[in-house]
Amino acid sequence: MNNTDLVFQSYGRCCRTEQFFVDFYDFFMASSEAIRKRFADTDMAAQRHLLRHGVMQIILVARGMSDRKLRDLGESHNRKNYDIQPEWYDLWEEALLKTVRMHDPEYSPELRQAWKEVLKPGIDLIRGAY
Ligand code: HEM
Repeated sequence: MNNTDLVFQSYGRCCRTEQFFVDFYDFFMASSEAIRKRFADTDMAAQRHLLRHGVMQIILVARGMSDRKLRDLGESHNRKNYDIQPEWYDLWEEALLKTVRMHDPEYSPELRQAWKEVLKPGIDLIRGAY
């Protein structure tokens, strides 16, 4: 199985419970006060739902799908809009990998590496639009 298949299946296991997204935002917001502040006025139930699709978009783009939706995310997150600092994406990735480790019973160091490789082009695209 290639990396995108491994990650696609891992994400399926993670998405079985909404708690995955609750835990992700707990980790992500705990990683920096500045990040926590960005979500102070956010409807987190809606945000969890949006993130579920956002991560899926990254995986689908790694599998060859059009990156149009990720380019829209690059636009919304750039300096003119949410003004998301490029260095915050490393914290985002760390929080996601930590949450996968917590929720996927088939987690392994190899699977972590597969996730990193699959996430990279999507994260680079969104961060690169800054
Ligand atoms: C909104 C995904 C990284 C902060 C959103 C939305 C999605 C999303 C799907 C909703 C659609 C939109 O408003 O455009 C992602 C993905 C990321 C990422 C896939 C990583 C590649 C980050 C980072 C931050 C961040 C690093 C840092 C704080 C926000 C904020 C909103 C948002 C503040 C708006 C929340 C609101 O509406 O109140 N993100 N995001 N995102 N994201 Fe991200």
